[in-house]
Amino acid sequence: MMDWTDRHCRVFHRGLSRRARLYTEMVTTGAVIHGPRERLLGFSPEEHPVAVQLGGSDPRELAEAARIAEGFGYDEVNLNVGCPSDRVQDGRFGACLMREPDLVAEGVAAMKRAVAVPVTVKCRIGVDDQDPEEALFGLAGRALAAGADALIVHARKAWLQGLSPKENRDIPPLDYAIVHRLKAAYPAVPIAINGGIRTMDEARAQLAHVDGVMVGRAAYQEPELLLHVDGLFGEAAPHADAFAAVEAYEPYVAARLAEGVRLASITRHMLGLFTGRPGARAYRRHLATEAVKPGAGLETLRAAVDHVRRAGLEAAA
Ligand SMILES: Cc1cc2nc3c(=O)[nH]c(=O)nc-3n(C[C@H](O)[C@H](O)[C@H](O)COP(=O)(O)O)c2cc1C
Repeated sequence: MMDWTDRHCRVFHRGLSRRARLYTEMVTTGAVIHGPRERLLGFSPEEHPVAVQLGGSDPRELAEAARIAEGFGYDEVNLNVGCPSDRVQDGRFGACLMREPDLVAEGVAAMKRAVAVPVTVKCRIGVDDQDPEEALFGLAGRALAAGADALIVHARKAWLQGLSPKENRDIPPLDYAIVHRLKAAYPAVPIAINGGIRTMDEARAQLAHVDGVMVGRAAYQEPELLLHVDGLFGEAAPHADAFAAVEAYEPYVAARLAEGVRLASITRHMLGLFTGRPGARAYRRHLATEAVKPGAGLETLRAAVDHVRRAGLEAAA
């Protein structure tokens, strides 16, 4: 998620689930080809399985960017056909590609020729006045015919005129049923659903209809949710609880601090941990005020977590 997630966040999330597939925020083909690659694409080995998400529409550039990303070791290349921002519309990629299924298919085919890892597409169910049935099934059919290995559908339209990107994540109504019908039409193709799924019960209910569930905001805002994901695969969570997950994350944090990364750029992804527990607010406040200070280190993180530990003991006493 652009401006929210980064590699530090992904390593933190990986500590909460071994099985969840993690996605980078969208990186444009232009940036991958011409920009600072290591900064844009570098990731830690423990992040696997991890997919890179590309934004672009020129098939040659998509192929080249996919090849570069594969060289970095990504497990999947995903094409963004869902981002509604103005910046993206000018560049003729993101959600506005819902109107150009043939171009999407060309891009998918070019990436398939370029890389051996799976190539997937994340799309909306349509944009503006499109008929979702035509738009979604048209795009899906062409992307799959071009070789796409899986689809992730954000189950609402994007309205490209008049709504901000933020509003475009909430205002166009969700239509899960159309994604379920898409899955029924393509039983052999992995299809994941996205949009508004905030609890494990909701995710489990979706899995009766589709193969996968992509969770965006809830996973970021309440990362403890991820501790329950491996259970879906019949496996135990990597750690007994969020406290243990933070402890296990400490060596990663220490290594980054030693490289000069500021504590706050790592802990900003951890503010939602412990949400709903006694002490969560004090934990957040401690991190928000102390982790930004020069020289803040692991002791700051530990002191923040202690607020929750102490509050928990007091509540139990
Ligand atoms: C801050 C922010 C940035 C986002 N950036 C991306 C992005 O880079 N690529 C993408 O496919 N979706 C992006 N999204 C959309 C989410 O992936 C997801 O489709 C959307 O939030 C709906 O799912 P949710 O209700 O589980 O959050 C972003 C969402 C947010 C809140």
